[in-house]
Formats: sequence, structure tokens, C-alpha cells
Amino acid sequence: MAIPLNWYKETALVIREGLEKAGSPIPRVALVLGSGLGGLEEEMEQAAVFSYEDLPHMPQPSALGHAGTLTCGRLSGRETAVLSGRIHAYEGYTMEETAYAVRVLLLLGVRTLILTNAAGAVNPSFHPGELMLVTDHIKLTADSPARGKLPAVFGPMFPDMSQVYALRLRELALRCAREEGIALREGCYFYMPGPQYETPAEIRAVRSLGGDAVGMSTVAEAIAGAQGGMEVAAISCLTNMAAGMVTEHTLGHEEVRQTAALAADSFRRLLRRFVGSL
Ligand code: HPA
Repeated sequence: MAIPLNWYKETALVIREGLEKAGSPIPRVALVLGSGLGGLEEEMEQAAVFSYEDLPHMPQPSALGHAGTLTCGRLSGRETAVLSGRIHAYEGYTMEETAYAVRVLLLLGVRTLILTNAAGAVNPSFHPGELMLVTDHIKLTADSPARGKLPAVFGPMFPDMSQVYALRLRELALRCAREEGIALREGCYFYMPGPQYETPAEIRAVRSLGGDAVGMSTVAEAIAGAQGGMEVAAISCLTNMAAGMVTEHTLGHEEVRQTAALAADSFRRLLRRFVGSL
């Protein structure tokens, strides 16, 4: 069953009214913060903060490190919405639900979507703590945010996916990284539904299929954004080598959070410049 258009409209209305009351600008850019990457929302000007709990129909996040707030205001001078707290399919949601906020933001007028995430490095030349600009993704699972009878405002039924991650934004991100002196890798993000981490055999399969990093988020939002005509960019924080790539190593959420926290400063610097350059 498709989520009714009215739900999206009702959520968008509550946000629009809140922005008006707070004197905050209507966002044009949205930034989705991944595991342990929060913090940027605190430096926003003219900020209006919405708890997901106060937004009608908004799916609620349950993963540790995901706060569940939408902050709208100015980041580096740009009218920006920052989503801290993303919804993952592994929490029991459909991809349509995980992309809910993106479509609400589309109704509000957001045209640029920047997604961030924590991911495991599959490319053996990558290292934990590095950042990777997503050039493309692979999703071989059945669910899709485009599935079902989608309201026409959210895009065509058979959306083109030949350039989900806009070349213009990728070039801009690379330039911003150079200017900040931050090494930014480039690669293909392979979506795995989780919540269990992968087996070493799965990671070997991911590698032979062309994945450079593996993660459990981002693609639903990226597909919905691209389908709706947004320019999309995604940057991964490589928090660990993927399963089986380092001997005698067990993977856990704590390691992911700790490495993301170590890289958070340079990640924030890159995002500030990136948003300011849009
Ligand atoms: N696999 C899947 N998701 C992840 C990983 C990983 O190794 N690290 C951070 N998110």
C-alpha cells in the first residue's frame, strides 16, 4: 500500500508553519546525517528545530546515534534542512517509509539532497577513517521507494538511475575536499539491508560485483530524491574494513560510532564548505 499524498502534505504543512513562526527560511538543500555524524545542526542560524515525534506521520528512528530531529535554518549561508536521525529498512520499515522525509522535503521545495553515512570499506586500498564520495550504488534487494502506486509529484514510475549522484555535485565535492585538504576517495556504495553485518563470503561477493563500500542506508533516499528530480550527492565515512578483510576482527556498532566520531571534524568541514558552495 502506498503512503497517501495527504500524509506528506500534512507533515510538510506542520514544518512550513513552524518555519514561519520561527522566522526560518524554507530549505532548498537537505543534509541527512548518518551514524555518529551529528553536530552540524547545532551551528545553524535562524534555526527551527522539529522533533520527529512532533511531525505527523513521520517514521520514528530507533537506531543508536540517530537523534530524530529536523533542523531548518542557514548553514554556511544556505537555506538548509538537516535531518539527524535516519530511518533504516532494518528497523522494520519499508523503503518507501525510509524515504518519507525526503519526499516531504521535496514538497517543501528542497532541490539538493546530500546524504551521509557510515560504511564498511570493501576496496582494499581504502582505510577506516577515510571519506568516500559515492559515484554510484548497487542495490540488489527487492524493495524500492519507487515501488507501488506513487503520487505523480514524486516522479515517474520508471525513474532513470543512470546518474543518481549528480556529476556537478561530485565535482563540487571533490573541489571542496581539495580546498579543505581532505582526502576524498571515490567509489561505489553497495547496499546491504542488515541489520547483521555481512559475512566474509558476502563481502567477497560485493567486491567482485563492483562495490567499494558497503552500508545499510542511503540508497532509498537517493532513489527517491533522484526520482523526484533532486540533485543528489552522498558521502560515506569509512568506519571499518568490511567483514573478513582484517583477520581476527569482530565488527560492532561501537567501532563504527567511534571511527565516525574521529572523522567527524573533517567531515563537518567538508560539508560546511560543500553546502556553502552550492
Ligand atoms: N557493513 C554494513 N554497514 C556498515 C558497515 C559495514 O561493515 N560499517 C558501517 N556501516
